This record gives sequence, structure tokens and C-alpha cells, in this order.
Amino acid sequence: MPEDLAIRIEDLSITYKVNLEAKRTLKNAVMRASLRQEARTRTVEAVKHMTLDIPHGSVLGIVGSNGAGKSTLMRCIAGILSPTEGRVIVNGKISTLLALGVGFNPALSGRDNIILGGLASGLTKEEIENKTAEITEFAALPEGFIDLPVRTYSSGMYGRLSFSVAVNMTPDILLLDEALSAGDAAFKEKSFERMRKLCEEARTILIVSHALATVTDLCDTAIWMHKGQMLAKGKPEQVVDDYLKFLNVGSLPSNLEDM
Ligand SMILES: Nc1ncnc2c1ncn2[C@@H]1O[C@H](COP(=O)(O)OP(=O)(O)OP(=O)(O)O)[C@@H](O)[C@H]1O
Ligand SMILES: [Mg+2]
Repeated sequence: MPEDLAIRIEDLSITYKVNLEAKRTLKNAVMRASLRQEARTRTVEAVKHMTLDIPHGSVLGIVGSNGAGKSTLMRCIAGILSPTEGRVIVNGKISTLLALGVGFNPALSGRDNIILGGLASGLTKEEIENKTAEITEFAALPEGFIDLPVRTYSSGMYGRLSFSVAVNMTPDILLLDEALSAGDAAFKEKSFERMRKLCEEARTILIVSHALATVTDLCDTAIWMHKGQMLAKGKPEQVVDDYLKFLNVGSLPSNLEDM
């Protein structure tokens, strides 16, 4: 793929298969086999034939209703989910902060999770030690919490620490799914400032957010996803405007109706 691209998404489709059986027991399986029944499954086409090139240094906002496929797309770019069809090519080191999917190990302390995260990002022991100081300082958890198991954290504390880890791993590509929604007002402001700084450093950043002002403020391009498809791509103001009209009126813009 061309050198100036960070991510290339080619005709990507992702389908989930959901098993509707109450329990996946041997008894159920034998009963089904004896009755010659198929396992009852439902498929959800979360992403449908999506094609998109994301150049290095772009800050891309992704908007769309609940269930539109945004998180699924992010998980696929992060390599947590594999495509059902098509492919995703990534050029650079990725750091992720996803609402679902990989997170911290709840039984380990915040400090140990930072070390694990660092090792996973391929940092040396020395680099990790330096980063740990930066990360704990930025997260500013209440006294002593950094050495307690993450399962004892409040969701805001969890969010603070995961945001600090994600932005401090100096990735080439940063994936943020609803990352700015964690934390209280003070932390929100601080994390927004950090995001702005990262955006200026010409990193490639993908931001999924329902806070549309964040998208128009930080991003240089936006896409609107709807039922697994990319309905619009362009200037964030324009895309957000189209999406808001859709939310208010409940119908698709006339030029997009045949999608
Ligand atoms: N693990 C899963 N197994 C089965 N179906 C799933 C799974 N994760 C998501 N889905 C389905 O895939 C579709 C897309 O979900 P996704 O989480 O990507 O949406 P989203 O755009 O991130 O929504 P939100 O704004 O609510 O976060 C939905 O219909 C959802 O029910
Ligand atoms: Mg989501």
C-alpha cells in the first residue's frame, strides 16, 4: 500500500454469529443431532463492504447511532476481531483505548497493568519505568490506588488510568472509542487538552464519539456509519450536520436514501 497511508480498509465486512441456544451443553447438542436440527444462530452484519484509506497524520472522527458498527470497526483495526470478508492493512504501531475488548487485567494492580501494557507495546524495561511515572502522574488516582487491583477501581478511575496508558505509549496510530467520556469534568478537560496536543503532533488518531463537538473540534475528517455502512465522509462540520439532521428528522438525507 502507498507509504503515506496509515490504515487501508478494503471492502471490509464483519459478521457476528450469535448462538441462540440457552446453553451450549452436550445434552442440547445430542438432542439437536437426534432431531436433525441445526443450532439456532443469528447473524449480525455489523460492518458491510466498507472501503476507506486513512492517511498518516489524519485525525478521523467516527459518528453514528448505537449499533452502527463503530466499535466493531475499531476492534478489527486493532486486530482483536478478524474480517469476515475483505481486509485491513495497518502501517505503524497501534495503541488502543476501546470501550469493549482488551482492557486491564482486573486482578492486577494499576502499576502491573501499566507494565503489561508497555511490554505488549514492545517498550524496554527502562522506557516502561519512565512511562509509569508519567502515566501515574497524569491519571492522578487517589492516594495508593495505583498499587491496588484494578477491580477495586471506580469506573472513572479505571477510565483515567486507561486513557493515560493509551496516550502515553507514543503510538503511531491511536484508536479511541468513547475515551473522553470517562472521568469527571476536571479530567475530561485535561484529557481533551492532551488529545489536542496529540492531534498537533501529526499522529494518526481515530476517535469514536457521541460527543459531536469533540469530533468537530479535534478531527480533520469524519465519517458517519449507519447500519454497518459508511454513509458519509468529509469535513467534520458537514458530516456531523448531516448526522444531526438524520437524528432530528429520523430520515436519511435524500442523496443518501438509496444506501
Ligand atoms: N460480540 C458481539 N456478538 C454479537 N453481536 C455483536 C457483538 N458486538 C456487537 N454486536 C452487534 O454488532 C452491531 C454493531 O455493534 P457495535 O458495537 O459495533 O456498534 P457501535 O456503533 O459501536 O454502537 P455504540 O454507539 O452503541 O457503541 C450491533 O448490532 C451489535 O448488536
Ligand atoms: Mg461502540
